[in-house]
Formats: sequence, structure tokens, C-alpha cells
Amino acid sequence: MRLEKKSPCKVNLMLNILGKRTDGFHKLETVMQPVNLYDELTFERGGNGIKLSCSEKSLPVDSKNLVFRAAEKFLQTTTISGGVKIHLEKKIPLAAGLGGGSGNAATTLLAMNELFDSALPSKTIATIAESLGSDIPFFLQNKPALATGRGEKIQPIENFPALIGKAFLLIHPGFGISTPWAYQNLARFPEALNGKAGRAKELVEKLRTKNLAGAAGTFYNSLEAPALDKFPILALFQNFLRENGALAALMSGSGSTTFAICENVSSAESLVEKFKSKFGENCWAAIVPI
Ligand code: C5P
Repeated sequence: MRLEKKSPCKVNLMLNILGKRTDGFHKLETVMQPVNLYDELTFERGGNGIKLSCSEKSLPVDSKNLVFRAAEKFLQTTTISGGVKIHLEKKIPLAAGLGGGSGNAATTLLAMNELFDSALPSKTIATIAESLGSDIPFFLQNKPALATGRGEKIQPIENFPALIGKAFLLIHPGFGISTPWAYQNLARFPEALNGKAGRAKELVEKLRTKNLAGAAGTFYNSLEAPALDKFPILALFQNFLRENGALAALMSGSGSTTFAICENVSSAESLVEKFKSKFGENCWAAIVPI
């Protein structure tokens, strides 16, 4: 049996950090939105252990890879002795703040359960997901969500009326940002480190109306403080996007991707043309209908 799965990504419409916890993680509230841009994963039962291959040669294919770890934890938890062959075709940029790796891990857990006759109840899959990374539970349900805790406590939300028919323009600058680096460097920005709770709910309420313009000023990401300080080009990107028709522009997650929300696909197409004539063709860009 062979399974082919699409593994999506996300942007954070809001990422409000509420302080550092005693376990080293940060308390936060975030509004996460699925993005229909996919890596592709194929799974085949057989052999012994886990054999992972990947189109992206810079990624490890052993237990340093989240796909490998998700498959390994699944097999350990079930005590199944069979093996699996997995191939990951990478399309989502790495270290981009888009949750590509977390999405891959969630997709792997769900696919393994399908491949091995629903050996685990969904509650156990959720526990494994949470143990592998803060963003992974979000991808098990893959609907807009308000997430709290360290990002693993998920409240699903119906599709936002303000975003219906709109389009994302995603721009990756050609360099990545390490998530641990971004969190560690928040310490230099006490205001960003200790945000006031409630901003995520405020954004959710605004996005429940059809008036995106009314919500535009509420989009916020605490991790921009260290990231835009180190990489000021990301601030220039945002200003340019806003000045040239984007309804909102923000860094996603710990960066380095900037996303703009555009009225529709054709306005995103003309915006990306303007962007490339200003900043050059070297950036990776994708237009994704919402
Ligand atoms: O949970 P995940 O493995 O994705 O986190 C990667 C790193 O990001 C953590 O090791 C930690 O440094 C940082 N992090 C954090 N607070 C969070 C989520 C992540 O400090 N809520």
C-alpha cells in the first residue's frame, strides 16, 4: 500500500508573546491560518525500520528530521515491528516561519495511522504531536485556530469572513531565521517579550466581520522585534508591500517569510511584479488564494 499526502503550511496572523516560562519555552497567544502551499510526502509499508529520502539535500534523513522522528515515535508507541519507506518532496522554504517541518510531522503521524490500520486513537496521535513540537498539533486539524500555551493548545475557528476571496503573497528573502535564535533574542526587547494578553482575541473578532481594512492595524508579531532589528530589509519589504496595495503585511512566525494579504489573486500578481522590479528576482515568492 502506498499513500500520497499533501503537507500544508501556515502563517501567524498574530503572534503575541506573553513572557518566558520556567521550562525555557515562551507563553504565547497566536492566530494561525492554514496556507494551501504544500510539500508532498509518500509512504509505503515494508522492510524494516524507517527509510527516509528527501528532495532537499541539505535536510538530514535520520532522527534529526521531524518526519523520521514522527514515524519512529508512531512505531514505538504501537510496538509494530514493520517498517516504512518515506519520501519528502520539499516545496515550502526552510527556516521560513511557515511551519513546513511541523506540517510534515503532523502529516506523517496521520499517514502512518492510516497505513497501519488506525493502530492509535486520535488522542494518542495528539499527545505524540505535542511532544514533537509546539506547532504540530495545529496541523493535525489544519483549520484557522487560536493557539495558546506554548502554541500547542488549539481552539479551531471557522474560516474568517474577512479573508474570503483574498490571496496571500508570500515572500522569502533567500535566508532563513532560526526559531531558537529569534526567541532567545526577544530578551533584548522587553516590551515584545512581555506582551499584554487579549490581542489575539481582538484580531479574531475583527476578522469575523467582512471588514479586513478594520483589522489591518491589529496584525502583530512579537518576534519581529529581534528579526527586523537584525534584518532591516524585512521592514523595507513590509513598507513597500503596504504602500503598493497590500491590505496587511507581516512576518510569519519566527521568519524569515513576509506575507501580504491582497484583495485577490490578480492584485497579488501585480504586487509581486512591482516587488521584484524593486528588490530583484532573487527572492522566492508564491501567490496562494485563501
Ligand atoms: O516547539 P518547537 O520545537 O517548535 O520550538 C523550537 C524552539 O523555539 C524551542 O526550542 C524554543 O527555543 C523556542 N520556542 C519557545 N517558545 C515557544 C515555542 C518555541 O521558546 N512557545
